[in-house]
Amino acid sequence: MKCILMNKNTEIAVLDYNEILHGFDRIYEIIDINYAPLILKNYYEEENDSLVFLNKLDEWFKGRGIPSWRDKLDLLLHRLNITTPTELLDKAFGLSLSDQYWIKPYDLKINYDDINFFDNDFDYSEFMEASLSLNSKIITSGKSLKTPNNTTDGMLKKAWIIDGGTRYLLKGGYKNEILQPFNEVLASMICERLGFDHVTYTLDTYKDLVVSKCPCFINRDTELITAYQIRNNMKRNDNIEDYEDYIKVLEEEGIKNARIKLENMFILDFLIMNEDRHLNNFGIIRDVNTLKWLDVAPIFDNGMALNIEYYDENEVMISGHGRFFYEVKPFDEIIKVVKNPKRIDITKLDGVVEEFDELLHKYQYITHISDERILRLCILLNRQINKLKEIIKKDS
Ligand SMILES: Nc1ncnc2c1ncn2[C@@H]1O[C@H](COP(=O)(O)OP(=O)(O)OP(=O)(O)O)[C@@H](O)[C@H]1O
Ligand SMILES: [Mg+2]
Repeated sequence: MKCILMNKNTEIAVLDYNEILHGFDRIYEIIDINYAPLILKNYYEEENDSLVFLNKLDEWFKGRGIPSWRDKLDLLLHRLNITTPTELLDKAFGLSLSDQYWIKPYDLKINYDDINFFDNDFDYSEFMEASLSLNSKIITSGKSLKTPNNTTDGMLKKAWIIDGGTRYLLKGGYKNEILQPFNEVLASMICERLGFDHVTYTLDTYKDLVVSKCPCFINRDTELITAYQIRNNMKRNDNIEDYEDYIKVLEEEGIKNARIKLENMFILDFLIMNEDRHLNNFGIIRDVNTLKWLDVAPIFDNGMALNIEYYDENEVMISGHGRFFYEVKPFDEIIKVVKNPKRIDITKLDGVVEEFDELLHKYQYITHISDERILRLCILLNRQINKLKEIIKKDS
C-alpha cells in the first residue's frame, strides 16, 4: 500500500507499506526529513545507504507496537484474537497518544483532525478488559482495535482510557506484583511536595486489580522524544560525560533548567530507590508544528522502586542500584550529580512516610500486602529520606 508518513499535518515521506509484513518495503520520496522522528532524521543525515535507512524506518515503525516483553503478552494477543502485536500497527493509522506520527494511505482523503485520538474518542472498553482483567474470557471484535493502545510501549499491562474527556493511562503491576501503582503514587506525593515537574499518578481499581492512573502529558501539538532517541547518535564516553553531553544538547535546544530538572529526577529515584530510569523513561517535549524543544518531560514511570524486585518475607535484600545513562550504579553514587543539594527543602517530606503507610493499609483489603512488608517499605523510604538529609547537611 502506498502511503505517506505524516507528522500531524506535515508530510514526511512517501513509502510503501507491506500489509502482510506490517512494515515498510520501499521509499518513493523523502518530502521533509525535519519532521521525521528525531532518531530517523539523525540516521538519514548520517547514513548514505538508502537500504539501511529503509531498515531503520521499518524498525522504528515496528517499535511503535506493543513490545515482545509486555507482561502477559500471550494472553493479550489471544484475547485480541491476533498473533503478533505488529498486526495492530496499521489498524488505526499507527496513531499514538505520545506523538503525532501516522501513516496516511496515499489516495485516501483523510484529515488528521478527524482521526487523531487526542480529539476523537475511541472505544477502549474491550482493550482495557483484554489487557487488565485477570480472569476475562473476552475475545475482542475488530472495531475495538482502533485505539491508541495499539502503540503503547513498556513492559507493564496498560490501557488508555477516556474519563471526563481526559485521556488517562492505566497501568497494572508486573506479574503478580501489585506494588508498582503505589510506588507511582508515592513518587507523585514526593514530587508534589518538592515542587518537581511530574506526571500525577493516582490509584484506581479495575475489577479485581489496583492500577495507577495518570493523564496524558502530550497534546495534539507536542511529542515525547525520549533520551534514547536524543542520545542515539551521540558519542558515548564515561557516563558522567554522557550525562553532561545530554544536558548540553538540551540547553543548546533552548530548554531552560535542564540540569535542575534532571537532578530532580535523580533525587526522586534516590528517595524511592527507582531502579528503572532507562533512557526511554525520561526525555523532552517537542512542539510538532515548530519543532522547538519546549521542556524536559515531566517525571513519569517510577513504579520499579522500593526494592520491588527483591522482596522476600524472610530476607531483607536491599538493592542500592539505579540506572544512570548506560550504567547501573549505586544510588549513593548517582545522587552525587546533584550540585547543590541544599536547595532541597527536605522538611517538605515530613509526614510522607506516614501518608504512604496509610495508603498501603487503605488498599490492603484488595492487595493483601502484609503488614510486615508495609513496615519494611516504610523503613526503606524513611532510610532514604534520612540519607538525603545527611547529604544536605554535609553540603551546608
Ligand atoms: N502520561 C503519559 N502521556 C503520554 N505518554 C505516556 C504517558 N505515560 C507513558 N507514556 C508513554 O508510554 C510509554 C510506556 O509507559 P510507561 O513507561 O509508564 O510504561 P512501563 O510499562 O512502566 O514501561 P517500562 O517498560 O519502562 O517499565 C512511555 O515510554 C511513554 O512513551
Ligand atoms: Mg517505561
